[in-house]
Amino acid sequence: MDLQFTIDQELCTQCGACVDDCPFHIIELSPDYPALNPARAHHCIRCQHCLAVCPTGALSILGLNPDQSLPLPQSLPAADQVAALIRGRRSIRQFRPEPLDPHQIDHLLRTVANAPTGKNNRQCLFTLVDDRATMDELRRRTLEGLRRAVNEKRLGSDLGYFRHVVSAWDQGRDIIFRDAPHLLTVSVPKTVTTPDADMVIALTCFELLAAAMGIGTLWNAMIKWAFSQIDEDLYAALGVPDDHVRGYFLLFGRPAVQYHRTVQRDDYRLNRVRLV
Ligand SMILES: Cc1cc2nc3c(=O)[nH]c(=O)nc-3n(C[C@H](O)[C@H](O)[C@H](O)COP(=O)(O)O)c2cc1C
Repeated sequence: MDLQFTIDQELCTQCGACVDDCPFHIIELSPDYPALNPARAHHCIRCQHCLAVCPTGALSILGLNPDQSLPLPQSLPAADQVAALIRGRRSIRQFRPEPLDPHQIDHLLRTVANAPTGKNNRQCLFTLVDDRATMDELRRRTLEGLRRAVNEKRLGSDLGYFRHVVSAWDQGRDIIFRDAPHLLTVSVPKTVTTPDADMVIALTCFELLAAAMGIGTLWNAMIKWAFSQIDEDLYAALGVPDDHVRGYFLLFGRPAVQYHRTVQRDDYRLNRVRLV
């Protein structure tokens, strides 16, 4: 595995920060400048901590130029801005019909690609519906699948809610897809050891950045239930690979509703541990 690890000796101060921060101890000062330990290099998980921690931008790995990274900490938002984002994000159930600029979706996904995954596996596959006709067809097939399940009395008591979804649809209200212009779901290969966390973290990052960009999202358990328990063909239609663990769904698009204040639910449940 060629990790394309290089050190600019004119910039390197031999501080050892890259050596100390590497989670798998694959870098050593050898003897003066950092170098990969050949016996350990295969442990590299490509996390790029060495590139990020170097104070002078002397280190390159994976062929990456440290000057292309955002400088820290000056690029970070203030803590109260992040707190306001977490409090002010809302589940959006009223969307404007127009699609987003594809560059915005690309920006969201590129940023979310930076979210943490177990051992930096980075195996999340994003399945995206960004086209109105496809969204309409998916909505139609889902509702038809639900209608068949209702008519054939295949819904257990836990899924009885879908009867209401079908009758609302017949009255012109789509309480599953909420007329959102876009749909995103995430899946990871079954071989990944941290599938649930990887997928939820990715969608959570997507949701928060979307909110900061004025884009609304709605986590959607109903689509997941409808697809996985009522009509498996819908997953096949999306092209989610069979050997993947399937994650949640997010609807997204421009909100047709504006919130003027945060909700107030700062109460939290705590189990504080004292062992001594
Ligand atoms: C895992 C998950 C699944 C959800 N599924 C749905 C859904 O199927 N339909 C829906 O309208 N809202 C859904 N929601 C939104 C929740 O109802 C919402 O987050 C909660 O009421 C709090 O409102 P807020 O997100 O605006 O703070 C879901 C939320 C989560 C986290």
